[in-house]
This record gives sequence, C-alpha cells and structure tokens, in this order.
Amino acid sequence: MKAIIYTNYGSSNILQLKELEKPIPKDDEVLLKVHTASVNPLDWHFMRGTPYVLRIQAGMLKPKNNRLGVDVAGTVESVGKDVTEFKPGDEVFGGCNGAFAEYVCANEKAFVIKPNNMTFKQAAAVPIAAFTALQGLRDQGQIQPGQKVLINGAAGGVGTFAVQIAKSFGAIVTGVCSTRNVEMVRSIGADHVIDYTLEDFTRSEQQYDLIFDAVGNHSLTNCRRVLDSNGILVLVGGPDKGRFLGPLSRSLRALVLSRFVKQKMVMLFAVRKKADLHIIQELLSAGKITPVIDRCYTLNDVPEAIRYVEEGHAQGKVVINVIG
Ligand SMILES: NC(=O)c1ccc[n+]([C@@H]2O[C@H](COP(=O)([O-])OP(=O)(O)OC[C@H]3O[C@@H](n4cnc5c(N)ncnc54)[C@H](OP(=O)(O)O)[C@@H]3O)[C@@H](O)[C@H]2O)c1
Repeated sequence: MKAIIYTNYGSSNILQLKELEKPIPKDDEVLLKVHTASVNPLDWHFMRGTPYVLRIQAGMLKPKNNRLGVDVAGTVESVGKDVTEFKPGDEVFGGCNGAFAEYVCANEKAFVIKPNNMTFKQAAAVPIAAFTALQGLRDQGQIQPGQKVLINGAAGGVGTFAVQIAKSFGAIVTGVCSTRNVEMVRSIGADHVIDYTLEDFTRSEQQYDLIFDAVGNHSLTNCRRVLDSNGILVLVGGPDKGRFLGPLSRSLRALVLSRFVKQKMVMLFAVRKKADLHIIQELLSAGKITPVIDRCYTLNDVPEAIRYVEEGHAQGKVVINVIG
C-alpha cells in the first residue's frame, strides 16, 4: 500500500510517498481502507518536531513513528478476533496514527459509524477539530445557554466547529475572522462577526462570558479586558513562536496569572474520547454541525496540503482524497 512517511524532522519537502506492507489488525483492531483523511496543525508540528517539548513524546532527534495523519474516514476491510462493534463493509470515521495512507489499523474504540447524511470527505474533516471545539467549550469553557461567546479564529478547522457547537449549546456567538471569511462564518451560525482587519475585538466595549482563542495573537491582558469578571478564557492555539515551548508558553503564563485574578484562564489539550465521538456523530446526524471544507488534495499532494495549512489561513478543513 502507499503511505506518506518521514524519517527526519523538517519542512514538508522531507515527506515521501512510499510503498509499505499492508498492515494486519491486532485482535482488538480494525483494518480500514482509507477513503479520506484530513490535515491538522498537529501534522506539521509532528513533521517539524516543534515546539521541541513535543519531541519528549515524538522522539528527540528523529520521529519514533514515521507516519502522519490523525483524522480518517473509510470502510472496514477486516477486523481482529476481539472486535465486536464493527464488521467488514462498515463505513466509519475517527482517529488513528498514519491516516495519510491507503490502509490503516486502529483500535475499534477509535471509530464510530459514519452518519448516512455525510460523505467520506466530510467525515474525515471532523475528528480532531470537533473534539477540540467540543472539549474547549463544554469542559474547559463550561459553556451555558445564553452566554456571550467569542471564537477567535472562527474560520479555521477548529473555529468553524466551535461556532456551530457553541450555537448548539444555545450561546450567542461572535466569530472573529478576516474579510473574505465574514459571510462564511455568518452562514454557519455566528450571530455577530468581527472582521479583524477592520476591528480589534479586544478594544471593543463588549464583554464576553467565554473566549475560545484558537489564534493566540492578543496579549492575555487585552483578552481579559473584554472578558466578564467571572468569564473564562480557553487557550486553544497560538503562534509557533519560541522553539522550546511554542504556544504552550502563553498557556503557562495564563495558568500562573489565573491564580491571582478572578477570571479563569485555562489551556486545552484535546483528547480522543469515544463518548465525545458519539456526541459529535449525533450532532452531525442531526445537522447541527456540518464540516466546512476548503481544499481537497490527493495522497501524492500531502506535502502541498500541509504547506497550505501551515500558512494559517485555511477556510475550514483541508481534506486528502485517498480514493478517487
Ligand atoms: N489545544 C488543543 O488541543 C488543540 C487541538 C487542535 C488544534 N489546536 C491549535 O488550534 C489552532 C487552530 O487550529 P485549526 O485547526 O483551526 O487551524 P487552522 O485551520 O490552520 O486555522 C486557520 C484559521 O486561522 C484564522 N486566523 C489566522 N489569523 C487570524 C487572526 N489574526 N484572527 C482571527 N483568525 C485568524 C484564519 O482565518 P483568516 O484566513 O480569516 O485569517 C484561518 O481560517 C492551531 O494553533 C492548532 O495548533 C489546539
């Protein structure tokens, strides 16, 4: 089978499309014929090995795991002997390691059935971005109906889910994006949209109960200015500044600062949870969330797809079509 591999850290030029052995599922695993995968900033962080703190897990000098891609949708081809939930032919989506490939094996807990109202392309666009939005708003942000919620980075992979999930919780949502994305962010349900090229949301008179920050381009002080005194700032993402800690340094500063102020500042590490994947599956089936897809690339063009996401201006998600 064909798969994207990397053996050293670096830019997307180091990625290679190689012929590998088709994997064999362990007893508790399913073998998936991959239809589609999607790209996340996580992929280029692992590809570059930055911030360096990530290498504690990924391998200090070179990657321990030389496959990339964590979001996948496809058809179950075969199952291990202990798998009870799936059978060959089932159409599923979820998380794995090595999604940029024709086949992948993962534990059955990683997948749920793809809703009938979705294409494989849409399903692959969901997992990490939707986990991040759901866990950031619900668990870290403790979102409540009627709250004023601001999503910074509303047009990105995570932000487009965050706008829709915040609406599904009954919040009044303000999305922040650039001019070309204003209509799109409004179309997915934002009640208000701030065009950051015209207005700095941290300078407005508005106060928010919850700020979901997927960009990290404003100081904590400025964000706190527009946060209600009982409000919560959820730090989701930030610029890859500072080789060792990257966006984590801002989150750590927030953790220290939040000990001395009433407002809460919390960082998010999204995790793959089957129970949350079921919640996301229900939201998708009910039409409460729909992935926004920007561009599609082939498996051969994964380096180009990652380069595009690295530029930081994708409109929703970038998908890899492995079949067709
Ligand atoms: N903590 C976690 O567990 C976790 C999980 C997943 C992702 N993340 C992080 O969350 C961040 C977002 O992820 P993603 O998948 O959404 O990335 P993405 O799809 O690459 O985000 C791109 C979006 O960011 C927007 N953007 C860029 N500059 C902006 C600005 N100054 N103000 C407002 N929006 C701006 C762009 O909109 P315009 O084109 O309109 O500028 C674009 O739509 C990344 O840093 C990622 O590493 C964290």
